[in-house]
Amino acid sequence: MSDFGTESSLRSETYKQGSTGEGTLKKRLGIIATCVVGGSLVALYGVTGPFIAPALRKVCLPFVPATRTQVENVIKVLKNRSGSVVDIGSGDGRIVIAAAKRGFTAVGFELNPWLVWYSRYKAWREGVHHSTSFYISDLWKVSFSEYSNVVIFGVPQMMEQLEVKLQTELQSSAKVVACRFPFPTWTPDDVAGEGIDTVWVYNAKTFKPHIRNDKDSERQEMP
Ligand SMILES: C[S@@+](CC[C@H](N)C(=O)[O-])C[C@H]1O[C@@H](n2cnc3c(N)ncnc32)[C@H](O)[C@@H]1O
Repeated sequence: MSDFGTESSLRSETYKQGSTGEGTLKKRLGIIATCVVGGSLVALYGVTGPFIAPALRKVCLPFVPATRTQVENVIKVLKNRSGSVVDIGSGDGRIVIAAAKRGFTAVGFELNPWLVWYSRYKAWREGVHHSTSFYISDLWKVSFSEYSNVVIFGVPQMMEQLEVKLQTELQSSAKVVACRFPFPTWTPDDVAGEGIDTVWVYNAKTFKPHIRNDKDSERQEMP
């Protein structure tokens, strides 16, 4: 073989090796890019999913935080109360934390885990973590029977169903505070604030159906 032949076959071998190397590099870059894009999409879904999920439920209750005035109105109407406060759908925990700062044992139930983790962090940062608890829970699957003060910032579509639930579960000494949207059939015992910051206060004594005392019925049955 001539020198020229040897040189040209060497060159073509080098070219082949180069192009194979380039191909492997391209393949690796492709895999890395797929992993980065795929990972980012999974992470994005993980973060935004819990915020979008409430909108896809039968009753759409999105995360809309209470305004500062709204929180102040809630605290104002709970001024002479004691015991526990529960915020149903506690969002970023602002009502629970404000209640804990006023001496209540305060609890939040929230579907979105990110908001629950953030609430716990905020409660710790503000020094009220000992008197607050946050649970990742569906409000329709929790009983509120043990709470003496119940706060809800809901949407009109859910209030009728919630009325029935609370009416069944709460003790007659309980108080319910509805933010922005009132309950459809209960009569409020007090109203505070105005516009979007309005809060309606209901005493369970007023809305709970009167249970006839056994002695009363015995007396009525006597001839
Ligand atoms: C209007 S925001 C009120 C947030 C907070 N209470 C406040 O006043 O700032 C309603 C909250 O309820 C949560 N939520 C929606 N559906 C829920 C469910 N089924 N169980 C528990 N929380 C729910 C939402 O994620 C949202 O954070």
